[in-house]
Amino acid sequence: ADLQPYNTLGLPAHAAYFYTLTDEADLPTLCAYAQQQQLPILVLGGGSNVVLTQDYPGLVIKVATQGKAILPSSQGQDVSGTTDAPMHLVEVAAGENWHETVSWLIAQGYPGLENLALIPGTVGAAPIQNIGAYGLELADRFHALRYFDLQTHTIHTLSKEDCAFGYRDSIFKHALRGRALILSVTLALPKTWQAQADYKDIRENLQGDVTPQAIFKTVVKVRQQKLPDPAVLGNAGSFFKNPILSAAQAQSLLNAYPECPHYPQPDGTTKVAAGWLIEQTGWKGRRVGAIGVHERQALVLVHTGGGTGNALIQLAHQIQSDVYQKFRVQIEPEPLVI
Ligand code: EPU
Repeated sequence: ADLQPYNTLGLPAHAAYFYTLTDEADLPTLCAYAQQQQLPILVLGGGSNVVLTQDYPGLVIKVATQGKAILPSSQGQDVSGTTDAPMHLVEVAAGENWHETVSWLIAQGYPGLENLALIPGTVGAAPIQNIGAYGLELADRFHALRYFDLQTHTIHTLSKEDCAFGYRDSIFKHALRGRALILSVTLALPKTWQAQADYKDIRENLQGDVTPQAIFKTVVKVRQQKLPDPAVLGNAGSFFKNPILSAAQAQSLLNAYPECPHYPQPDGTTKVAAGWLIEQTGWKGRRVGAIGVHERQALVLVHTGGGTGNALIQLAHQIQSDVYQKFRVQIEPEPLVI
């Protein structure tokens, strides 16, 4: 199967076997077949966080399961132990589109995810990198998830603590890397809504009353101004993570470059804006063949068509090395490289 339509960077690659999963009950048979044929398995959601550098010799499972259920309010307590604020719990199938889910929930009277509007991809992919934007991350609205273990062919449930969420990070990038096919995510939406509008871009663009709808609209507007639409221009969102520096590293960087945007973290480390670092190296808006750096957000690599995953990785290395030369700061790619 041609994988180009299934990755938002629009990179060329083929899969030996391809299966669109619409019913999770198909998994045991499907995975038994893959095991018997000794096929490795690659799970794809919206394909908005992968870089395909070569053909895939195994089975690609495109998760397309649908369904949303508001769980009975008797279960609507946050059992995480951190707070006992009453929550609406909503279980959403992994194949549902993230943005449509956010939009649907707000329309149904379950706000709380508006800061995460317009993030590409599926609900099932959201926990893997703990998607985040404008002062909120998935972990803040997460209750539990179910996954199918691709090694043991059994279904498991994980709590928020089990998922070990961090900045663009979770257990699915470590102990469960390549092993879990996420089946559904249960979101926890506070019954008492509170705006999360401190982020500069949101504060400055918000108009009128502060409602979930107003924040949703503002987030959509800000993202449309800065970030390329994958349907128009191939990209995978931020290609690099914002690096987290030790107090000493941050001190020496900020002594030399006090204007570098930075965000002190509760644990004493400092997160710095990789987009700014990249812009200072002169890469913003530049193209090398079919691959380039977006002109309005230097964290985003774009593919204009006719390029390859390897060319993209090469450019990413060049940028990493230039940032390191200039600032002695190592920046790391965010998407999964296949
Ligand atoms: N900046 C520059 N030049 C650039 C880009 C950014 O100087 O080319 C500066 C901005 O002026 C600002 C600072 O860097 O002072 C931060 O920029 P921005 O608010 O655009 O956010 P970001 O740190 O670049 C992160 C996330 C985005 C998320 C935004 C908003 C990561 C890797 N990226 O970007 O997430 O939408 O914050 O919360 O953490 C994604 O992960 O795919 C993504 C788009």
